[in-house]
Amino acid sequence: MNKSQIPAAQKEVLSLLLDDHKKAKKLFKEFEAEKDDAAKEKIAQEVCTELTVHAAIEEEIFYPFLRDQKPELFGDLLNEALVEHASAKDLIAQIQAASMEDDLYEAKVTVLGEYIAHHVTEEEDELFPKVISQKTGLICARRPGEVPSRASAGPFHISEARTAMTTPISAQLPTPPSPDRPHHGLNEAAAWAG
Ligand SMILES: [Fe+2]
Ligand SMILES: [Fe+2]
Repeated sequence: MNKSQIPAAQKEVLSLLLDDHKKAKKLFKEFEAEKDDAAKEKIAQEVCTELTVHAAIEEEIFYPFLRDQKPELFGDLLNEALVEHASAKDLIAQIQAASMEDDLYEAKVTVLGEYIAHHVTEEEDELFPKVISQKTGLICARRPGEVPSRASAGPFHISEARTAMTTPISAQLPTPPSPDRPHHGLNEAAAWAG
């Protein structure tokens, strides 16, 4: 996806997600080209960490915002995305618990790369163009885990979300996540235009 198509009010958020996609694809290529077992493992662990943080940002901030704003437009795509994330997370957990000594290690990383390539294509070719067509502002307003409150919802930079996401969500929340928990999303003040 070409970043020049992105409206200014969406650039920060979508660029961050696009950069993550690019980085993950690059790491999968490096894994494939690398011959040394220890170096391969290092790359695989890095890609697992990157993808875990990326998925958390999408699941905790980006997807809930889209679903709240336009459930009829985004609901089906977001449900598919969550199922794809779940499959990827299963494989990520297996890779994180294994090493190159595992006969299936390389196959697992390769299949994860294929899952991610498919998922990224869906996000960049279907989801993001729909977001762009809405022309809404996407401004991150809360830290992940914060209880939504208009009074406390000062703007903050989305890159801070990445830092916050490296802390396990369970450690940030007073109660375990549940479907009823209010989402901690993007700024309602930057609501959808029109
Ligand atoms: Fe993504
Ligand atoms: Fe995703």
